[in-house]
Amino acid sequence: MCGIVGYVGPRPSQDILLAGLARLEYRGYDSAGVAVIDGDGSLGMRKKAGKLAMLRDSLKDAALPDGNTGIGHTRWATHGGPTDENAHPHLADDDKLALIHNGIIENFASLRDELLADGVSFRSETDTEVAAALLGREYRNNGGDLQGAFRAVVNRLEGAFTLLAMHEEHPGLVVGARRNSPLVIGLGEGENFLGSDVAAFIEHTRKALAIGQDQIVSITPDAVTVTDFAGTPVEAEPFDVSWDAAAAEKGGWSSFMAKEVAEQPEAVANTIRGRIQGDQVIIPELDGLDELFIGINRIIITACGTAAYSALVGKYAIEQWARLPVDVELAHEFRYRDPVIGDDTLVVSISQSGETMDTLMAVKYASERGARTLSICNTQGATIPRESDAVVYTHAGPEVAVASTKAFSAQITALLLLGLHMGRVRGAIEDASVDVAELSALPEKIAKVLESEQEHVTQLAGWMADTRSVLFLGRHVGFPIALEGALKLKEISYIHAEGFAAGELKHGPIALIEPGQPVFVLVPSPRHSALVHSKVVSNIQEIRARGARVIVVAEEGDAAVLPFADEVIRIPLAGAMFEPLLAVVPLQIFAMALATAKGLDVDQPRNLAKSVTVE
Ligand code: G6P
Repeated sequence: MCGIVGYVGPRPSQDILLAGLARLEYRGYDSAGVAVIDGDGSLGMRKKAGKLAMLRDSLKDAALPDGNTGIGHTRWATHGGPTDENAHPHLADDDKLALIHNGIIENFASLRDELLADGVSFRSETDTEVAAALLGREYRNNGGDLQGAFRAVVNRLEGAFTLLAMHEEHPGLVVGARRNSPLVIGLGEGENFLGSDVAAFIEHTRKALAIGQDQIVSITPDAVTVTDFAGTPVEAEPFDVSWDAAAAEKGGWSSFMAKEVAEQPEAVANTIRGRIQGDQVIIPELDGLDELFIGINRIIITACGTAAYSALVGKYAIEQWARLPVDVELAHEFRYRDPVIGDDTLVVSISQSGETMDTLMAVKYASERGARTLSICNTQGATIPRESDAVVYTHAGPEVAVASTKAFSAQITALLLLGLHMGRVRGAIEDASVDVAELSALPEKIAKVLESEQEHVTQLAGWMADTRSVLFLGRHVGFPIALEGALKLKEISYIHAEGFAAGELKHGPIALIEPGQPVFVLVPSPRHSALVHSKVVSNIQEIRARGARVIVVAEEGDAAVLPFADEVIRIPLAGAMFEPLLAVVPLQIFAMALATAKGLDVDQPRNLAKSVTVE
């Protein structure tokens, strides 16, 4: 949700904070703010509703005195609308103390009443200002011990939070804490950083420390101290950031999304790299962890949003290769019923950010009930992998655009790898050579779709800029791709879009078809199943007979679709489980081109945030 950055060191902090916020803006962009302790030891603060550019403009118009200690925030509103007052930082102790927050403080109402009764007045509607005021009062009462006051405050808060705070009486010190919300430390030379994720500081350092749940950190230019909420020192886990700073920049691309769609061959290749040995899939991170896959009798894959659609593809692949029943559960539904899980269940979670609160809570729920847990994640140092028994990283690199594209492809790739790995460990696969060859060929085939269909699909989207509704139909592994195609369009072009299982058509959705209704149909290869292929071709005829405008995504050479299609988008031949990685590409391009034709911001669609760290 919100993005958080902190800096202490010898350099002027404002530019470092603003650059960090720019890389975190995908987490929320309805307001932004920075606070800096200047050279004279006084705290200055500026915050603005709107995107980060508004804050930059305001700082350009009237500069804030700069200093070497600072915190910055980009917000996705929870308590209180996106106004200047509700933006972070929030100040307390006669504006000498600044605090920023990500998450939701659930007991803020009772704390606010307590502070109001104590004569404190508030300038915003946020839960965050309550934490700031509480810290200010505690600081005054304890004689100016910032770390002690901060510890006392975090122990009184309920809910999920990452907090950073600083006080002008302590230049060169930023304190932070986390509970069920992300925070990582970046280690520099004579300077240190805090960030919601490593993107906040990769420009400056690749050395990082992961902080556990319910831990507090203090950074000064030369030292980092981590304790638990009781104040007992704890060891933070060091890691090297593999992302490269340039990968988080837009470069010459029109948008991050355009760049990330184009990076899919690389994202898939990097996710496969090092995990194929001869004609077998062996995932080195799972070495010695065979017990995760032996003695289980079912798998539950849990995730949200796009990640959950990748899970649906994974279900087909894992069931086929590992011969285990797989259920896919939206994380927020999973833990609010009473699912039947135990030590015979493997719960696989999928999350690009590794911080989605619903998914994190589902993983914790599963662990508490004795299930084995494995996460598929794109972000090092994130919480979900830390809470899981094992992790398979996707190597898509930083994904900045809110609408997920390359991470989705990398997630499907990781699931395919996992299915083949598991099938081998469980003795369910005799010969994986054909599938391994298919995997290896994927990057090149995705590149081919990008090259051959970019212009055609962009043109198509241009013609359809006034369309008010688009439907997507798919069968088998095409069904999750239909769902993903519809989600992409909804997210960034604000057009009504629905994905359906083609077989459901006659059970309801066909009522939506009227003359001119655009329908994308994902046609599976007849080589995989002539029967499934013929069923989808029948569906096409049914909607065509009712006047639909049919846009078909079909493999090269499939002539059966030609008589009934208004447009044909071609993808290269691939095995059944590998087709989704090719078929999704034109749908991503379509959504992006349509949003662009409508003049919308494809990277930062309204109301959304990339990483949803509140429930
Ligand atoms: C948000 C984003 C989606 C993303 C989902 C899950 O809703 O807007 O693009 O798919 O969260 O995110 P995760 O980081 O867990 O994959």
